[in-house]
Amino acid sequence: MDFPLLDIRYDGKRIAYLDSAATSQKPAQVIESISDYYKTYNANIHRGIYKISEKATEVYIGSKEKAAKLINAGSYSEIVYTKNATDAINLAAIGWGNRNIKEGDHILITEMEHHSNIVPWQMLAKKNGAVLDYVDVDRSAYTLNEESLEKGLAKSPKIFAFTHVSNVLGTVNDAKRLTKMAHDAGALVLLDGAQSVPHMKVDIRDIGADLFAFSSHKMLGPAGIGVLRAERSFLEGMDPMITGGDMILSVEKQSSTWNDVPWKFEAGTPNIEGGVGFGAAIDYLNAVGMDNIQKHEIEITKYALDALGTDDKVRVYGPDIKSGVRGGIISFSIKGVHPHDIATIFDSHGIAIRTGHHCAMPLVRSVLGLPAAARMSFYLYNNEEEVDRAVQAIKSVKEIFHVG
Ligand SMILES: Cc1ncc(COP(=O)(O)O)c(C=O)c1O
Repeated sequence: MDFPLLDIRYDGKRIAYLDSAATSQKPAQVIESISDYYKTYNANIHRGIYKISEKATEVYIGSKEKAAKLINAGSYSEIVYTKNATDAINLAAIGWGNRNIKEGDHILITEMEHHSNIVPWQMLAKKNGAVLDYVDVDRSAYTLNEESLEKGLAKSPKIFAFTHVSNVLGTVNDAKRLTKMAHDAGALVLLDGAQSVPHMKVDIRDIGADLFAFSSHKMLGPAGIGVLRAERSFLEGMDPMITGGDMILSVEKQSSTWNDVPWKFEAGTPNIEGGVGFGAAIDYLNAVGMDNIQKHEIEITKYALDALGTDDKVRVYGPDIKSGVRGGIISFSIKGVHPHDIATIFDSHGIAIRTGHHCAMPLVRSVLGLPAAARMSFYLYNNEEEVDRAVQAIKSVKEIFHVG
């Protein structure tokens, strides 16, 4: 097994890690790439005229080239490294939004967004006097409501920011179609790829979204590094969010000019080891194949949904798997049992799942009407035996809480 953590036994049991939507496990190849950087070429990038600094620079930029290729972006200059997807969306809202959103403008998002694609737009709307509108989620199909989408776009928003895949419902939005609809309505598009890039082939130029955000730690790479992708000319029209060293071309006493993109957005010493590990993670994903990963996850999700579907005390939230718009995420509840109790019992079975609002309070509280939900999420290292264990854990929950 390439994932050392998944070989460890706790109380004699291998962990069934069903929480990859929160963060993924890391293969040995990623861990070793970071260790190798520290052991053999640890140096700051860009500024050293000596071998190990040159190597660190080459590997760091090389990881951007890999990220660009993975999503079919034009070149590494379109890849801005940020701390994570959240930081990337904040950069978009501040670096693009502050300049372009004016009083009375509309910003359109959806009810299925993660807080990272809500709060930055709320802040921007408050600061610049704009209006924040939401596309509703259909309460039975768990997809975006078409009528509400059309209504939102009819207000001529300046930007439509939406998630590619919901981290709660597993809904896969048709990003290409939605982007076209937004462009036809005169809006730019920010696409949140935090839950899509790790799990499926994404061709960002085909989709056509103007701004695209995702995180390394959800795709086998280290935490602390993420991506904001936009075309070079788009990035050139944005302001930096953080200023200081490395992002400048020249500094006078009263003013400064900026470095070329993407460097104008990367002030200070970046997360070099993060870039190194991220590159290794992309190599790993490519070796397995994104199509194979997606196929495996759909199979395992189908298997789990079939097992849960036979239990009338379990309620699952998300689109029908047959609809073809569902990824490997299953949020569920068990009648009369608080989700935290479900997770605690799962843990006693050696199964890691997540409960709570999943950083999507408007969706979980208002749309699903729940205080919290339990969530299983799958990745390339999960298997059917782990789903069987989850089904057994549900049985235990029901016995302990006398459900049914
Ligand atoms: C859909 C979605 N968007 C954005 C994020 C934020 O990612 P990060 O915490 O890496 O910034 C998450 C994290 O769970 C997510 O699921």
